[in-house]
Amino acid sequence: MDPNNPNPGYAREADVLVDTWETVSFVELHQPVLHLIPAGPCSILDIGAGSGRDAGHLAAMGHHVVAVEPVDELRTAAMTRHPSPRIAWIDDGLPELATLSRNETFDLVMLTAVWMHLDPQQRPPAMARLASLLRTGGLIIMSLRHGPMPAGRRMFDVGVEETLTLAGAQQLRAVFRMRAASMQPANRRAGVTWTRLALIKSNSPVSSVP
Ligand SMILES: C[S@@+](CC[C@H](N)C(=O)[O-])C[C@H]1O[C@@H](n2cnc3c(N)ncnc32)[C@H](O)[C@@H]1O
Repeated sequence: MDPNNPNPGYAREADVLVDTWETVSFVELHQPVLHLIPAGPCSILDIGAGSGRDAGHLAAMGHHVVAVEPVDELRTAAMTRHPSPRIAWIDDGLPELATLSRNETFDLVMLTAVWMHLDPQQRPPAMARLASLLRTGGLIIMSLRHGPMPAGRRMFDVGVEETLTLAGAQQLRAVFRMRAASMQPANRRAGVTWTRLALIKSNSPVSSVP
């Protein structure tokens, strides 16, 4: 495996994937958590931004978005599809996200269909980095993939309880949790489901989850 390109399938199939990811709208995909997304302008970090569907929608709402996408082919396609002066595109990835300043914080971090790309060793430092990028009271909205994995993709099983334990260690408390079938027909037929979590950064130790 090339450590600089752990998911060569994404680069090879970028055109098809971008079209596929754009078939579902931001509003459809994020319906269960729309009430958690601030209405007024705020600063949002979209990690693993893919086709730019979410970054584009959030920018159109008036938010300032930093969109992180490590795959050149996806990032270039996304910038073309969703041009906006309110989106800053960055070539970077978890767990380090080294390009972002150590002092920079966001009101909302979106991590949609990305966590399963991190192996068990990467997930604890990645959760710590996510927490460091969030202001107190800010939210992480993330989705966890369950079910069969496509061939040729670097993907791992990600458990909800494990994720909540990692989050709790960073004073991130779950305020929303919901599991649902995939919205992509092929994945739904294959039995893929997703757990959506919203985690709030508190300044007191986390003792319980919903
Ligand atoms: C299934 S796609 C989801 C794209 C987009 N978030 C969406 O919901 O349509 C996974 C994305 O995560 C990106 N990705 C993979 N590994 C990553 C990492 N370590 N850090 C950040 N992004 C990563 C991929 O390049 C890809 O754009």
